Amino acid sequence: MNGLSGRTFLVTGGGSGIGRGTCERLSKEGSRVAVLDRDGGRAKTVANRLRQTGIEAIDLACDVTHESALTDAVQRVVAELGPLRGLVTSAGIFDPGDIRPLAEISLETFEGTLRVNLGGTFLAIKCALPALLEAGGGAIVTIASTAALRGHGRGPSYSASKGGVVALTRILAEQYGERGIRVNCICPGAVAGEGMGAYFASEAGGSQAARENPLGRVGLAEELGATAAYLLSEDASFVHGQILAVDGGASVR
Ligand SMILES: NC(=O)c1ccc[n+]([C@@H]2O[C@H](COP(=O)([O-])OP(=O)(O)OC[C@H]3O[C@@H](n4cnc5c(N)ncnc54)[C@H](O)[C@@H]3O)[C@@H](O)[C@H]2O)c1
Repeated sequence: MNGLSGRTFLVTGGGSGIGRGTCERLSKEGSRVAVLDRDGGRAKTVANRLRQTGIEAIDLACDVTHESALTDAVQRVVAELGPLRGLVTSAGIFDPGDIRPLAEISLETFEGTLRVNLGGTFLAIKCALPALLEAGGGAIVTIASTAALRGHGRGPSYSASKGGVVALTRILAEQYGERGIRVNCICPGAVAGEGMGAYFASEAGGSQAARENPLGRVGLAEELGATAAYLLSEDASFVHGQILAVDGGASVR
């Protein structure tokens, strides 16, 4: 892909699943990668693996709900890896208390989910924007979910938080396009992984996903990483403000 080699990208939630798949794909393209995760151990493991392939990578133990920690993290990225050219916001949570009819969901679950999934996306973008503008422009890829697009019934708080990420992507595209920042949103369907995607990596989850989409299988973190890398790359230079379902076709049903 064009425009990735030698450039610096920051991935939140980079220690696991889709974020990890994105870091790995960017490193294969020759990018410099900052792996940010609340779980510092996971971020370190991923960054170490990337460094073993000869790629410049750093790990950042940081919670995306903490603005000052994110500001410090972005400063470290620029100081150690050079001008920031792109951001992927993959950090997210799913509270098990959210798998209920709305009237049975606590305000704590609702607010806690919004704080990380929507608030954390907002803060990561807010803190990265000055560095992206300073670099002369760049690209942002937000990660929402098909839960933002369809009423498939799993998690009112989660669905609302991801709907917010879609809306945030659109307003951001309008506000920052002319300033050289491209912004797009990926809505993954069922993706197998080691964290939130663990259920879809199981036999039960895998066969559920297979029934729910026309490709008849779960997605892989690597496939989502490839889409994120494409949207960051110069190959996507005229792709802006788009909400892209990467779900094996589940959303056509
Ligand atoms: N896996 C799926 O099927 C699926 C489907 C649709 C959308 N998504 C979305 O994709 C994104 C990644 O999902 P995944 O399956 O890779 O999940 P994951 O659990 O494997 O990875 C998420 C990572 O985010 C980190 N994280 C959580 N809260 C954080 C915080 N406050 N600050 C910093 N890091 C934090 C976790 O430590 C974890 O390493 C999420 O936003 C999720 O909602 C996933």
